[in-house]
Amino acid sequence: MILEVLISVPVLIFIFCKLWAHLNHTYFILSLCKRLRTEDGSPLEKKIYVTPTKTRFGNNFDLLNFTSESIFNYMRDASAQANGRNYLWYFFRAPMYNVVRAEEAEEIFQSPKLITKNMIYSLLEPFLGEGLLTSTDQKWHSRRKALTPAFHFNVLQSFLNIFKEECNKLIKVLYQSVDKELELNQVIPQFTLNNVCETALGVKLDDMTEGFRYRKSIHAIEEVMQQRLCNPFFYNVVYFYLYGDYRKQVDNLKIAHAFSSNLIEKRRRLFKSKQLEKVDEFGKKQRYAMLDTLLAAEAEGQIDHQGICDEVNTFMFEGYDTTSTCLIFTLLMLALHEDVQQRCYEEVENLPEDSDDISVFQYNEMFYLECVIKESLRMFPSVPFIGRKCVEESVVNGLILPKDTQINIHIYEIMRDPRHFPDPLRYQPDRFLPENTVNRHPFAFVPFSAGQRNCIGQKFAILEIKVLLAAVIRNFRILPITYLADLTFENGIVLRTQQNVKVKLIRRKNKL
Ligand code: HEM
Repeated sequence: MILEVLISVPVLIFIFCKLWAHLNHTYFILSLCKRLRTEDGSPLEKKIYVTPTKTRFGNNFDLLNFTSESIFNYMRDASAQANGRNYLWYFFRAPMYNVVRAEEAEEIFQSPKLITKNMIYSLLEPFLGEGLLTSTDQKWHSRRKALTPAFHFNVLQSFLNIFKEECNKLIKVLYQSVDKELELNQVIPQFTLNNVCETALGVKLDDMTEGFRYRKSIHAIEEVMQQRLCNPFFYNVVYFYLYGDYRKQVDNLKIAHAFSSNLIEKRRRLFKSKQLEKVDEFGKKQRYAMLDTLLAAEAEGQIDHQGICDEVNTFMFEGYDTTSTCLIFTLLMLALHEDVQQRCYEEVENLPEDSDDISVFQYNEMFYLECVIKESLRMFPSVPFIGRKCVEESVVNGLILPKDTQINIHIYEIMRDPRHFPDPLRYQPDRFLPENTVNRHPFAFVPFSAGQRNCIGQKFAILEIKVLLAAVIRNFRILPITYLADLTFENGIVLRTQQNVKVKLIRRKNKL
């Protein structure tokens, strides 16, 4: 008996150790998720930086109780620690592959299999449902196909007058703030929200208080999302309901959804009464604003009311906050770089005096202003990171990613890579002059993402931004009040700063 025990104990220990080693090789055991492997069998650390964990539970608790600000810094530190390499985290049930290099991002952007968004987007679903941003597979394919014509060049041309009209309204407001401190965050978002409502949805926002409440509610929804993002326990709906800001989310969703439903209803009534003509005076098929495309699809039974709401919420959310963020940072950088502002002024001075006479072509030809916008987006991308998920085991970048692996593409880091943008912290619009871009990696500048799931509204956004910048630069000199060192960045779906950005406007001499 004793002999049997003496023999079987070491055998059992041996078997246990073998099993443990095998499991440990395959799974990050205490984090319950499968490990990544390399395609060629070489050590993982050769291909990717594996971030050390603070506890034995993977990297889950490394992020516990973070704030939007500290999570932004944590991500930046994680990239710095990885020293220019892509890096890996192990979370509950799934690894997270963080891509900070254009070379590897390219393969992901171009993969037809990696189009499903990751778990972070599920936190957006109470707000956006299954709209274009969050949906996948067949639903996403058919909606993208249906909505693409709503952003065609011809449609953009018809939006130009709306941009100009809203711009003129804003310039009048800005004249009242001349020589005073101006908080850009107080005036710009209203401009971009009005634009997206009127162009994409075909509804004029006449009641400003409604727009104000909507913007506030979106900010609150993002804050709750951030809370959930910073604490893995809050991913669980029950825990979030009991201990999180569940009530705040519900109340603000009510406001945001009521606002968009109201806009849809207004347009639906108009749509039914006019049955918006389908051919123009030349007999050509007319292209609709995006909401009309959806209403036409509804009339043909291809989409239901909920589907329309999801798309409208998605376009309003994606279409206004991203663009206003870009405008705010660009105006700040112009204020901080007088020489750049002067070059822009020289370019816009050549435009016709009456803005009604400026065509889309003329805006397209404002090359230097475009370089300025691009450089602002490079340094301060409105969408700092995006995510994908492996719906099945996938081989990418020489790595075997298990099913459910979460992928983060850090646009913010990619566009600050000194290999592609030397001296990346310097604001230098000339980087985007044609002669300076010829040898650049095609995926080094990706503020609108790339591949199949790129931004559907990018041309819309650039035109809208140009219209306002040209008008502001023509009318005012912009002086800085806020400096970059005054700003604390926050991580979110959209890049934010804790402080409002302030500038001072001086009336230009020829505009007395
Ligand atoms: C400076 C302005 C903008 C920036 C930087 C920007 C950036 C982006 C990025 C990075 C994505 C990819 C998101 C992801 O994969 O998670 C995206 C997607 C999207 N954007 Fe934009 N965007 C801007 C303006 C707009 C505007 C004006 C609209 C609409 C009017 C819009 C509508 C959308 C939609 C619907 C998607 C989802 C597309 C899809 O998955 O098929 N965006 N945008």
